[in-house]
Amino acid sequence: MNKILLQIDGKEVEASEGMTVLEAAQGAGISIPTLCHHEKLEPFGGCRLCIVEVQVGDWTKRVVSCVYPAEENLVVRTRSEKIDKIRKMILELQLCHAPDSPELIEFAKEYGADKDRFEKEASFCIHCGLCVRYCAEVKKKNAVGFVDRGIRKEISFIPAIASKECWDCKECFPLCPTEALQAAYVLTKSLLSPPPSLESASEE
Ligand code: SF4
Ligand code: FES
Repeated sequence: MNKILLQIDGKEVEASEGMTVLEAAQGAGISIPTLCHHEKLEPFGGCRLCIVEVQVGDWTKRVVSCVYPAEENLVVRTRSEKIDKIRKMILELQLCHAPDSPELIEFAKEYGADKDRFEKEASFCIHCGLCVRYCAEVKKKNAVGFVDRGIRKEISFIPAIASKECWDCKECFPLCPTEALQAAYVLTKSLLSPPPSLESASEE
């Protein structure tokens, strides 16, 4: 694959054609915050936390680095007053859904995000889609998916598939930045398990 050279935060970075700006930065040890990115998954561009500035000629534009292609001579800035402000706002909006997420709390410290800025709507899921996409793209099982739309959108295990595939897998658990996935799993499992009295009766 052809090599290209670009500049990220003033550093000359070598990348391969086809890489995203995020991949080029990570390859050079430059960190960009992400919530919905995973190296095994197709780029998604959902959370927008990885936003950066790129300079094209005399003007600057903001792009989502996990989907934006690295290009020859591209000049990228991963932090600026504006970028930090956008990340702070994204984090404040996410924190109203999942105020106890360790990952969000950590990012909030770095960007000065106030977890109480917006009214709490503790749905816990921040719709990063990592669990859904991992199960579909890596495991090819589709045992977990989104149901409903807009503010009602939430993840749900598909009982018929989950009962066969999930109990011994759980590879999606560590990917979830909140407690939403485990809560949905526990609920599904309890709905699928027979009550203890029936279980013991069937063993007799
Ligand atoms: S349950 Fe967790 S991993 Fe799945 S979409 Fe919601 S926040 Fe992301
Ligand atoms: S990590 Fe790029 S949009 Fe979420």
